[in-house]
Amino acid sequence: MAENANPDDDTMLQHLVRISQALAGQLDFQAAIHAVAREVREILRYDHLDICLLSRNGETLLAYETGLHTSWGSLDEHMTYRSPIRTVLWGEVPYIVTPDATVDDRFLFEGAMNHPIFDARLRSRLHVPLRVQGAVIGALSCSTHEADVYTMEDVRAGQHVADLLAPYCFALRKAEQAKASAIVEAEARAREEGLRLGALRLTEELEHERQRIGMDLHDQVLADLTRLLHGVSRLREEPALTGAQLDPIAADLRASMQEIRRIIDDARPNVLQLFGFEHAVEDLLDRAARSGSFVTRLENTAGQALDEAPDPLKVALFRIVQEALNNAANHASASEIVVRLAEQEGRIVISITDDGVGYAARAPRRLGGIANMRTRAQLVGADFAIGAPPDGHGTQVTIAIHIPARLEAAQ
Ligand SMILES: Nc1ncnc2c1ncn2[C@@H]1O[C@H](COP(=O)(O)OP(=O)(O)OP(=O)(O)O)[C@@H](O)[C@H]1O
Ligand SMILES: [Mg+2]
Repeated sequence: MAENANPDDDTMLQHLVRISQALAGQLDFQAAIHAVAREVREILRYDHLDICLLSRNGETLLAYETGLHTSWGSLDEHMTYRSPIRTVLWGEVPYIVTPDATVDDRFLFEGAMNHPIFDARLRSRLHVPLRVQGAVIGALSCSTHEADVYTMEDVRAGQHVADLLAPYCFALRKAEQAKASAIVEAEARAREEGLRLGALRLTEELEHERQRIGMDLHDQVLADLTRLLHGVSRLREEPALTGAQLDPIAADLRASMQEIRRIIDDARPNVLQLFGFEHAVEDLLDRAARSGSFVTRLENTAGQALDEAPDPLKVALFRIVQEALNNAANHASASEIVVRLAEQEGRIVISITDDGVGYAARAPRRLGGIANMRTRAQLVGADFAIGAPPDGHGTQVTIAIHIPARLEAAQ
């Protein structure tokens, strides 16, 4: 190692060439400073060497160090005005050289990030700017534990090294910025593409659904209505029309209405498959709230647990919620209806609660919504209850079921 030998011009040139060779191909700042560290030592003594670079229009600073490790290098970014060498970075002085930084007033101002000087015992210090096209982009700093080491020769040598490093650092910074903006752009494009694909898939599924409904309407309902039309046309030729002659037409109309209901019903749970249980219930609640004079609320603390259930189970639970909600909307005169989806002791518990007039259990009806809810619950092995909620006001329907694990469900 040259003991601050201040090599002659030829030797200096050789070292500078070697520094630039060491630099070539380094792809980040930390790697660049490590690569040149040994060659720089041939020209300048140091125990600590760092490059700091301005960023955010010069407001902040990033340091890359070699030799000793200080908190300058471990900070992500710090404010330029707190740097002990801010006068170099602001272009106010062409360099700083000090025989002992620990007692140099220039480094001892209010708020200065100067503790590494004391922590790492950096006494002799030399700072020269990194310049590109006249503008300061950062600084090169060398420090030693020993006092009174650097001369004006060293300042010149340091500036040579800095002049060599500056354009490389500048290019690296530009490449980094270009990479960062390319990543941001690629991410934005990927997000857009993801949305586009999602929308496309949804449109495709909805299109299939439309085709299925179209076929159902055509094959069943249109056929029924055509038959009815023929029936009515024949009746027009009858001179004396009797009620009994209208009976089969009324029966056909009823059957056709039933069929339309089935088609509508079949289409509805599709929201379940497309958007999941929570959204399907939300959709129901929104629609109910729009046509009633009450508010609705959905509380889901069960996450996606219900979506892992097999389809027939999900549809059954959805139908029960649907009927309980219809009842609350039609009979309760409630001001609020709340659906809660929760997981308790390994079971999914769904409750539909209203704060209305309350449900008075009468003689059980064989037909009707409540009987249907009970039957559906039994069929899927769920517990069903209807009564007053814990606070005693209104009606609460509760269904509790153990959801089979995904594996069992798939088998
Ligand atoms: N949330 C509720 N609040 C108050 N009364 C209710 C509530 N739910 C049900 N009821 C009462 O229970 C009766 C039976 O309900 P159920 O759903 O079986 O039949 P429905 O709603 O009258 O007819 P549908 O067969 O169309 O469902 C209702 O007519 C209503 O009087
Ligand atoms: Mg009902």
